[in-house]
Amino acid sequence: MANHVPRRQFLQAGLALSTLGASKSLRLDAQILKSANAGRVRFGIIGVGMEGSGLLGAAVTLPGVECVGAADLYDGRHTLAREITGNAGLFTTRRYHELLERKDVDCILAAVPDHWHMRVVVDACNAGKDIYCEKPMSHTPAQGFEMIDAAERNNRIVQIGSQRVSSALCAKARELYHDGAIGDVEMVELSLGRNSPTGAWVYPPPLDLSPQNLDWDTWLNDAPKVPFNPERFARWRCWKEYGTGVGGDLMVHLISGMLYTLGWNEAPKSAFALGGIFRFPDGRNMPDTHAVLFDYHGIPVYVRLNLGSSTREFARFLGPKGVMEATGDSIRLLPQTGLDESPSYYSGSFPARMRAEYVNQWESEHPVHYGHEPVTADQLYQGPDWDDLKPHLWTFFEATKSRKPVPEDAVFGNHAALACHMANASYFQKKQVFWDEGSRAIKTN
Ligand SMILES: NC(=O)c1ccc[n+]([C@@H]2O[C@H](COP(=O)([O-])OP(=O)(O)OC[C@H]3O[C@@H](n4cnc5c(N)ncnc54)[C@H](O)[C@@H]3O)[C@@H](O)[C@H]2O)c1
Repeated sequence: MANHVPRRQFLQAGLALSTLGASKSLRLDAQILKSANAGRVRFGIIGVGMEGSGLLGAAVTLPGVECVGAADLYDGRHTLAREITGNAGLFTTRRYHELLERKDVDCILAAVPDHWHMRVVVDACNAGKDIYCEKPMSHTPAQGFEMIDAAERNNRIVQIGSQRVSSALCAKARELYHDGAIGDVEMVELSLGRNSPTGAWVYPPPLDLSPQNLDWDTWLNDAPKVPFNPERFARWRCWKEYGTGVGGDLMVHLISGMLYTLGWNEAPKSAFALGGIFRFPDGRNMPDTHAVLFDYHGIPVYVRLNLGSSTREFARFLGPKGVMEATGDSIRLLPQTGLDESPSYYSGSFPARMRAEYVNQWESEHPVHYGHEPVTADQLYQGPDWDDLKPHLWTFFEATKSRKPVPEDAVFGNHAALACHMANASYFQKKQVFWDEGSRAIKTN
């Protein structure tokens, strides 16, 4: 989006130039620009790949929001950023620090692979920039705490990118839950399954990718040095050196939605995971099938993630008054009375006279008014896709102006990411793992 100064103000500025002294008119010019920019948010983007291109495309459609530069280690994505913004002269660089140094950058959007999140967030906060960083917040548990510290020390807005947290649908689920729709939750089921190479991250590397147009050594960051590898560049999620597996790629969305809906903001007490590489034994070291059972202050949360068999994505909340099931664009509420509607079938084990006595007593205590039995109604709420990026971007950009905290801040993002790290630790160690708040570490007992 171009940095427009309304035409009338330009004309006034021109008049000012002809009638006032040069320094005065320059000051006026600056004031006009400032007032035209008042309330505008100017951002730089770091990482314009698969997700970054979507973020950029969505951000530039928002009113009062302008992209002033893009950083990416691969030059092809400089071209892409110019195409998306429609600005052939957009500032682009391989070095994101050049964006952080610019005074006209108010804030940053970052969509770099997971093993770069911590560095980018800490550097942005230290440079005085607010930052929207993609999920999962961190690559290791320790990194999350460094990021929280950087946000707090520099008084910066840090928002993590699980977009459903800002969706109208999640807000509705939260409202229904807190209005008592299902009573106090007793169990949660989360599930997501895909069955295709693209769904399993077998992405085609950019056709021209080479060490000439990509800074491969920098891309590796703190991962072990390996020769230039286009597949690792495009399919980094498959390897723990760069990504966080289905836990960080998929589950973190489900967990973030769950935490927000229930009003929880914590790491799980424990996790036990099973899984394997069943469908895509292509050299990856992250599982394509991952089932996890978490303990959230005593509430079991069961998660099923699968890249080998496609199943519907849902979050199901079970309580004494019913079930609430959220999918991408709907919430279905299935109320339950929680009461017996007929004499207990256990009475079938009573001899006849005893059974008759029990049934008579039950019916006298539970009179049935035929034709007037209680009826329940499922309720269906439909809304925009909870994966829509715009509401979450809007939450962030508004917060950069209002300085009001965002729901998915660094503390929240860290809690969601810790669930992923625990699921991965349990998978690799083949043991139940526990979160130890005192040492801020994952323990096996
Ligand atoms: N919120 C969502 O729904 C969603 C969806 C997809 C991906 N993501 C997240 O977005 C992030 C990026 O994923 P992706 O699929 O877009 O990856 P990608 O590989 O397609 O793009 C990442 C880009 O970052 C660039 N990059 C890496 N390190 C950099 C650095 N130090 N400086 C500048 N540029 C750098 C790469 O060159 C690449 O172009 C990940 O954290 C992922 O989990 C979120």
